[in-house]
Amino acid sequence: MRVAALVLAAGRGERIGAAQPKAFLSIAGRPIVLHAIEALAACDAVDAIVPVLPAPLLERARDWNASARARRKLAPAVAGGAERQDSMRAGLAALPASVELVAVHDAARALVRAADVARVVEAARRTGAALLAVPVRDTLKRVRDARVVATEPRESLWAAQTPQVFRAALLREALAKAEAEGFRGTDDAQLVERLGAPIEIVEGDPGNVKITWAADLAWAESALAAREGDA
Ligand code: CTP
Ligand code: MG
Repeated sequence: MRVAALVLAAGRGERIGAAQPKAFLSIAGRPIVLHAIEALAACDAVDAIVPVLPAPLLERARDWNASARARRKLAPAVAGGAERQDSMRAGLAALPASVELVAVHDAARALVRAADVARVVEAARRTGAALLAVPVRDTLKRVRDARVVATEPRESLWAAQTPQVFRAALLREALAKAEAEGFRGTDDAQLVERLGAPIEIVEGDPGNVKITWAADLAWAESALAAREGDA
């Protein structure tokens, strides 16, 4: 089965508050988006990688010092849109019909491990849809006006990560339905859920965090250094 990965990197990064888009900030000397691309390229199951970038920065993909392995898999970058779902649509539209499985990944999850990518791709190959997720670790409070309303049972709650991997036809159908109904999801699986299709959960790594706040940059650098120390 041909597998393509979309690396969504077209966000502005409002919460990180830097002068340039978040995915272009450096950790350990290379842009966040390139870390994500290298992790996906290191997974043998991934055949092609399509970066989805802010339109004004499309040219920047040429300057990347990508590994030979990543260069072999990298397809031309595509311009993203105003919201994440627009960027996903742009990436999906750029894929050839021969692609059977699509792995949608947040560039901001720069530290994803290739082995976890392989596991979630494998699950989607079997079931049609799968995502990485981790069990929620904190006790969850429902809050209204700064007062606790309830404690939510945590046992059945998981925090969704990416990659989320789908049969291409399923993701196309889910996106078409969402857009026809004016629905915007916060992840891709949510669109597929609305079709009633089964989606498998693959337990991921708590270290596959979405770099969101400025403090996450320093954390990501030290997590990478620790990983290299282990290797
Ligand atoms: N993304 C995208 N296109 C958008 C918005 C987001 O491709 N219009 C991508 C981001 O680049 C990121 C991923 O989706 O890799 C997850 O989004 P998030 O972490 O929210 O990134 P930003 O939207 O850039 O950050 P913020 O919400 O703080 O502005
Ligand atoms: Mg965002």
